[in-house]
Amino acid sequence: MTLIEEYGNKYSSFKYLNCYGPEIEFFGYQFEFLQKYIDGYDFNRLTCLDLGCGFGIKTYYLSQKFKQVVGADFIENIVNVNKLLNDNRNLEFIVYDFNSDSQLEEKFDCVTALGFSMLNIKDVTKYISNIEKIFELTNENGVLIIWSFSDFSGKAPSGWYNHSKNELNEIVTILKKNYKHVDLIYPYNKVALKDFFSIKGLKRIIRFFLRKKYYFLIINK
Ligand SMILES: C[S@@+](CC[C@H](N)C(=O)[O-])C[C@H]1O[C@@H](n2cnc3c(N)ncnc32)[C@H](O)[C@@H]1O
Repeated sequence: MTLIEEYGNKYSSFKYLNCYGPEIEFFGYQFEFLQKYIDGYDFNRLTCLDLGCGFGIKTYYLSQKFKQVVGADFIENIVNVNKLLNDNRNLEFIVYDFNSDSQLEEKFDCVTALGFSMLNIKDVTKYISNIEKIFELTNENGVLIIWSFSDFSGKAPSGWYNHSKNELNEIVTILKKNYKHVDLIYPYNKVALKDFFSIKGLKRIIRFFLRKKYYFLIINK
C-alpha cells in the first residue's frame, strides 16, 4: 500500500473526521432511543431524504440505518465536500433549495429534518405550511422525523427560534388534526439510577440538566 493510499484510508471518509465520534455518540444515542420508542419501523427497508443535511455527519450515520439516503442542502460547497467524504454506496448528496419550486424526481418513505432552520420559526402558520411542503417530498405513507432543540424561552437570541412548551403543544394539536399520527418525544426526559455509574450515563445526566432540550417530532402522513 502506498503512503497516499494509507493516508487516504485514514482521512478520506466521514468516519475519520475528528468530530464524527462525539457527534454520533451524541446524536446516535438519541436516534437509538427513538428507534426503541417507535418500535415497529424497519428503517433498513426505507428510503430517506435528510433535508438541510449540513455537514452530513448525521446523514452518514443515517445511511447505516436506512436502505437508501439522500442528503440535501442548498449550500453547494457543503454538498460538494460531503460528496468527497462519502464512501457509502447507499448515500448521495444533492444541492436542493427547499424554498425553490424545483421538484425532486424521487418520493421518499421518510424525511428527516434535523435542526432544519425552516422549522425553527415562530410563525405557526408558516411552520405548518412548511410541514405540508415537506410531505410533498414523501410517498403516500411518508413519515417525517423532526429533530430539534429549544430552551423553551419563546425567544430567538441568535436567530434560532426557541419554541416554548405551549407553542410546541399548540403545533402538535394542529398537526394531529391533519395527520394520522403525531408524537413529540424527549429522548433525555428520564435519568435512571444506573446512569450514575457509567461515563455514558453521566454525559446523559449533564445533557439532561442543560437548558437546551432535544426533542423529536414524528409525523405520519
Ligand atoms: C442548523 S443546520 C443543521 C445541519 C444538519 N442537519 C445537522 O443537524 O447537523 C441547518 C442546515 O439547513 C440548511 N438549510 C437551511 N435552509 C435551507 C433550505 N431552504 N433548503 C435547503 N437547505 C437549507 C442550511 O444550509 C444548514 O446546512
